[in-house]
Amino acid sequence: MIALDNHPSGRHFLQIPGPSPVPDRILRAISLPTIDHRGPEFATLGKKVIAGLQQVFQTRHPVVIYPASGTGAWEAALANVMSPGDAVLMYETGHFATLWQRMAQRLGLEPEFLGLPGNDEATGLPHSWRHGVQADLIEERLRKDSAHRIKAVCVVHNETSTGVTSDIAAVRRAIDAAGHPALLMVDTISGLASADFRHDEWGVDVTVSGSQKGLMLPPGISFNALSPRAIEVSKTALLPKAFWAWDEIVEMNKGGYWPYTPSTNLLYGLSEALDMVLEQGLPVIFARHQRWGEGVRAAVRAWGLPTQCADERVHSPVLTGVITPQGVDADAVRKVIHERFDLSLGAGLGKLKGRMFRIGHLGDCNDLTLMAALTGVEMGLKLSAVPLAGSGVLAAMDFFASTAQSRLPRG
Ligand SMILES: Cc1ncc(COP(=O)(O)O)c(C=O)c1O
Repeated sequence: MIALDNHPSGRHFLQIPGPSPVPDRILRAISLPTIDHRGPEFATLGKKVIAGLQQVFQTRHPVVIYPASGTGAWEAALANVMSPGDAVLMYETGHFATLWQRMAQRLGLEPEFLGLPGNDEATGLPHSWRHGVQADLIEERLRKDSAHRIKAVCVVHNETSTGVTSDIAAVRRAIDAAGHPALLMVDTISGLASADFRHDEWGVDVTVSGSQKGLMLPPGISFNALSPRAIEVSKTALLPKAFWAWDEIVEMNKGGYWPYTPSTNLLYGLSEALDMVLEQGLPVIFARHQRWGEGVRAAVRAWGLPTQCADERVHSPVLTGVITPQGVDADAVRKVIHERFDLSLGAGLGKLKGRMFRIGHLGDCNDLTLMAALTGVEMGLKLSAVPLAGSGVLAAMDFFASTAQSRLPRG
């Protein structure tokens, strides 16, 4: 265990935007003895987790659980509804949107990558990696596709590489306004159970998500939420699919079972996570993450550093991307913070490598763990000789103190 557990004392600060810190209650549930996945008790667990997930995705339709990371659920989404050579309109919001687009290419689809052109003058970083999806660009592009070659529009709801969210309801309105039949496919791998997401109400056909972010589980299971239309399309879609195929899984799920050996112990964890999420209520959880995001941004503002998200309306409640001044290697700052203070921050990915770092504010954290994390960041910035306008720690303290409410029930 030396390599895995060499933290000198206290808990490691896992402040990356997923995997997020796992609550002890969930770790304990996962440690229970594995049961027979074809035995009678299992059906109760299977039915319970699917029903709970439907509440979290805000859908009445099937949710498929895969023993795979989020990347597997991305592939499942495309493999079930697409045919070789299909055109798909994908929107460039950052690194994860780019990876999904590359996957579409590798699967033999024809992705078109739409996004805001050009770079931001102040930072030199791409505009499309600092803003959310521009639904009007999607509408404009779909209106030109009078032959309806485009079979799906694919967007990332919470772009984990940037800390920017996108308005999914607006994308649905854009597709409808263009009178286009394309399916709407959404990645909310890092948004689910932290940022408001409504599969049915927003007219999403396939939602992709994963366990290791807002659901506070370790990595290892991932999800597709389906619409009736997506299920219809999957019946005639021609990309090869076997392990990922929805039909057999949805059929066996009706009895609470899977056509293969599911991740029994992660499903115990999921059951516990769903209890926690649904006991607290989604609106309370969404508000909590919004507030954490505001507190962290108060610190970043006080430091005088820009956030990766350049649009005040679409800051992620789950993570904040912080751009370091030109010439300061953000990875070197992260290294100092990790080595000296046992705090892990997210790296700048893809086009953002070395230009920014990401502070995760999701999973099992609270005001004080976030304050400690911000203290570690501020100390690391100072040790790296990054010029700061003021103390982000003091600004965040003021914010958290002035907005704190009693955690205890009234009375
Ligand atoms: C938005 C988004 N999409 C896709 C992925 C890929 O998921 P995984 O790494 O679990 O395969 C991630 C992982 O961080 C993500 O944040």
